[in-house]
Amino acid sequence: MVASVVSLASSFIAVASPSYSSSFVLTKLRSSPSLRLSFTVSSPFSSRGRGGSHMAHTIARATLGLTQISPAFEAPELTFASKEIDVTEWKGDLLAVGVTEKDLAKDQNSKFENPILKKLDSHLGGVLAEVSTEEDFTGKSGQSTVVRLPGVGSKRVGLFGLGQTATSTAAFKGLGEAAAVAAKSAQASDIAIVLASSEGLSAKACTASAIASGAALGIYEDNRYKSESKKPALKSVDILGLGTGPELEKKLKYAQDVASGIIFGKELVNSPANVLTPGKLAEEASNIASLYSDVLSAKILNEEQCKDLKMGSYLAVAAASENPPHFIHLTYKPPGGPAKLKLALVGKGLTFDSGGYNIKTGPGCSIELMKFDMGGSAAVLGAAKAIGQIKPSGVEVHFIVAACENMISGTGMRPGDIVTASNGKTIEVNNTDAEGRLTLADALVYACNQGVDKIVDLATLTGACIVALGPSIAGVFTPSDDLAKEVFAASEISGEKFWRMPMEESYWESMKSGVADMVNTGGRQGGAISAALFLKQFVDEKVQWMHIDMAGPVWSDKKRTATGFAVSTLVEWVLKNSS
Ligand code: BES
Ligand code: MN
Ligand code: ZN
Repeated sequence: MVASVVSLASSFIAVASPSYSSSFVLTKLRSSPSLRLSFTVSSPFSSRGRGGSHMAHTIARATLGLTQISPAFEAPELTFASKEIDVTEWKGDLLAVGVTEKDLAKDQNSKFENPILKKLDSHLGGVLAEVSTEEDFTGKSGQSTVVRLPGVGSKRVGLFGLGQTATSTAAFKGLGEAAAVAAKSAQASDIAIVLASSEGLSAKACTASAIASGAALGIYEDNRYKSESKKPALKSVDILGLGTGPELEKKLKYAQDVASGIIFGKELVNSPANVLTPGKLAEEASNIASLYSDVLSAKILNEEQCKDLKMGSYLAVAAASENPPHFIHLTYKPPGGPAKLKLALVGKGLTFDSGGYNIKTGPGCSIELMKFDMGGSAAVLGAAKAIGQIKPSGVEVHFIVAACENMISGTGMRPGDIVTASNGKTIEVNNTDAEGRLTLADALVYACNQGVDKIVDLATLTGACIVALGPSIAGVFTPSDDLAKEVFAASEISGEKFWRMPMEESYWESMKSGVADMVNTGGRQGGAISAALFLKQFVDEKVQWMHIDMAGPVWSDKKRTATGFAVSTLVEWVLKNSS
């Protein structure tokens, strides 16, 4: 019986070798020792027309190198300063005042009761009271009105609504963003932002930092792929009335470090798949490591090295593409002493997801947006960039991405293939479009092998999660209440939206295979949950683990651009784990 299995398998090799897809190399029939021997010597990868140097493949063939980042593009330089000067004395292009609905209360003489508004308004001859009445400005969140004031110290004054009361990070970020957007349309180069009432605020430094990060992101526009674009005029942002001194300066620098990570993440996601190939993503990651080489180091594994690690699940997804996979591993080591905790951030890094043979077709499948399928990796690498600058102590962080492209070709995996992940588990691929989990399986096994205490993975994993939570809330899946608490506390500070979802074990039923350890797709109902249960198969029980499905929040349909989602929450979470 065993002998016949072996000879059957051997004849398979004679016919199939050497051009079979990667899944064949790593999936072995259990009782066939001869297979092991014949396959370790064969190298199916080299026969896939991937000759030439490593670098030659960082640009996709279809690009011909003609789509390039505009040479005129420069990242805008913006300086932030905290000042304690009177609003009537500030001079510059735009003074932005954040006001709540309460702040707008007026006395019998139609004058503001709020001291700052009152003073400013009388300095400006009552124009603010007038405009707020005429334009029906009530201070609702998102409302704003800007007046031009020729001959006055500040050329423009704007009122920006904060809602009934302003206490959340999101509200202050929104203020910074709205002020920056107004600065953009006024071509302002120096602006100041002030709150009409800041007495009740418990953490002024945090408020200042939220405003600063909103402004940094609000002024940013990704014009790298436009042949012509205007440079933003904004050069400086003064934050008034929220204190001064070293603590505040530190917070402002922190806000800028995080913003630079968010912008980097957005740029990665906005980059099209003909420019941002897996090789290019790895190059970008290595570049981050060399920018902050005092604390970060990079290790990039090529296809051959991943094969040695038996990453059959990941490599099966990569098998159809002309652009070879690159497994990215950055390590952050804290300056000055050993780390008490080791964390891993694992991101889905599909530079493009065509669906494979289960190709994405039909209205609503969003195939033309599937460059964003590396949004998880962008969050992870954006966080790496921020952490490289902030340099928190007492914590080691591993940033892990199994980058590849899900394409269609004669070397690609087929529906029905059985692949073997690096922990030995076998997977029947009943749908090639459920590819993210196949790449994450090997990435999670690798992360566990780094001896980490906690893992957070992030992925644009399922359309089902968008159906469940809509476009702006990410799904959180974890068996660990402690880890959930940590990440939700971090999200309170970042202002990003997450919602915990159930890890309903009974749904595992739908993931059972008749021939392998599991299938990769359990059907439409509860699709985000069965995906999370799949990932759990590849995580050590000793490790605290969380999966974040960010398929919705990765992209803004309204703004037609990437959001940079999760970078700031991840940074906050890492800081909570530092000492
Ligand atoms: N990258 C997609 C998920 C996705 C879809 C993100 C739409 C954002 C918008 C993922 O690889 C995928 O194709 N998932 C399938 C899973 C299904 C085959 C079980 C899906 O959600 O349809
Ligand atoms: Mn897919
Ligand atoms: Zn995908």
